[in-house]
Amino acid sequence: MSTRPGVVIILAAGEGKRMKSAVPKVLHPIAGRSLVGHVIEAAAHLEPEHVVVVVGHGREHVVEHLAEIAPWVVPVVQDEQRGTGHAVRIALDDLASRGVSSDRPIVVLTGDTPLVNGGTLDGLMSAHSGACTVLTATVASPTGYGRIVRNGNAVAAIVEERDASDEQRLINEINAGMYVFESSALVERIARLDTDNAQSEEYLTDVVSMITADGLVVNAHVSADSDDIRGVNDRVQLAEAAAIMRDRINESWMRAGVSIADPASTWIDVDVEIEPDAHLLPQTILRGPTAIAARARVGPGTTLVACEVGADSEVIHTWAELAVIGDNARVGPFTYLRPGANLGAGAKAGAYVEIKNSSVGDGAKVPHLSYVGDADIGEDSNIGAATVFVNYDGQDKHRTVVGRDVRIGSDSMLVAPVEIGDGAYTAAGSVITDDVPPGAMAVGRARQRNIEGWVERRRADSASARSARAANDGDGASDKVQSEDSVREE
Ligand code: UD1
Ligand code: CA
Repeated sequence: MSTRPGVVIILAAGEGKRMKSAVPKVLHPIAGRSLVGHVIEAAAHLEPEHVVVVVGHGREHVVEHLAEIAPWVVPVVQDEQRGTGHAVRIALDDLASRGVSSDRPIVVLTGDTPLVNGGTLDGLMSAHSGACTVLTATVASPTGYGRIVRNGNAVAAIVEERDASDEQRLINEINAGMYVFESSALVERIARLDTDNAQSEEYLTDVVSMITADGLVVNAHVSADSDDIRGVNDRVQLAEAAAIMRDRINESWMRAGVSIADPASTWIDVDVEIEPDAHLLPQTILRGPTAIAARARVGPGTTLVACEVGADSEVIHTWAELAVIGDNARVGPFTYLRPGANLGAGAKAGAYVEIKNSSVGDGAKVPHLSYVGDADIGEDSNIGAATVFVNYDGQDKHRTVVGRDVRIGSDSMLVAPVEIGDGAYTAAGSVITDDVPPGAMAVGRARQRNIEGWVERRRADSASARSARAANDGDGASDKVQSEDSVREE
């Protein structure tokens, strides 16, 4: 059992200049969650009494974001970024001014280390002893980080790159910027920090040497996985962190019984749920709170944003957002499901089909080249190829209701508002503007007229004319010409 902290302070006031972004660094997302969101999630795992996030650059956006994702964290504004020690001081002053006090340990984290997780912090908390424990990592290239100067097993000091001697720069154990302090050890010293260093900032790291100078012990806890403490300072590191998180998420789903054919091209957000025996094919991207049921096959080339996919269904080369796909349904290839598309069990949406704000009943099919907008399609109905649900009159959207066991002929235009009764048919190429009663056949199109001999008269020297002549001279000359009668009978 690790100790429960009183306060977690997350430092996130920095500008993140190297991102070259209009968006504050800590709001950049990976795996569907902001950088600071990942850190808050890790902090929450420790069940602290209070979480404070120090904000500065782009504070309006950061504060708004925090209210959205974690309304229980308290933002504290640091107007000028005068160093990590200054940021912690401002957070502690704010807590004191609100009468918040706790004897429990204080944890300090930074907002730009999205790979830190509950496990990392559990390790830090259970290793904690003495006045302070620093999370460290041993890395191949320590450049840029504060170096851990040891005194035997304990930590003597943390020296910043720019303040380090040549000898100290050779140390490859680095400060992750994450600490747990005994409350009094931190509070008593934070007000005494100076700015006598290369960056003229108040260094939180100086608290460490102040503690050891007073004869108290500071320990280091080496992170089991040095990836956990990776910071994100630019877009290159953002992509690196995203790839590591992708691999971690994919691995955990594979261990939970999900097949992932090509983990390197499969991107799954943190809020996705997947049941065992689901199968993800290459280039599948699952975003937001998407849920995939057992034995569903998703991909290749599919992006699902906040969708529900039923058991045993198949979703190929599809883009879908806020759509529900029923059990055993078939979607794709090249299907676009927009918000409110709701496919029943065994339903089908095929190639070049776009569906929005519509329900497709159990067993109903929209197999090819259609637009379905603002419609309800009943069970087991079939929508012929190239049908358009004409939902927009240029000003308003209207609904179309198609009953059960309906057969909509190919190339029908269903002009909303309109209702097609159960078991009704529409003739191919119809423009349907009036309601169709159950069981009726609706024909809404101009009648075909054949002008005999037209090619011979107008295009006498053409290949068409020669082929027509040959056909007319041969047997069964007019077999393929639909008679007026057959049209009439329809
Ligand atoms: C800091 C540590 C260094 C460590 C490194 C790990 C100090 C003096 N140095 O250096 O030993 O190896 O982190 O990444 O602490 N911040 C504020 N307000 C400020 C200054 C910083 O909120 O006034 C925030 C930043 O937004 C960032 C974090 O604190 O999230 C770290 O600040 P940064 O300037 O990146 O510290 P480093 O120089 O990297
Ligand atoms: Ca810095």
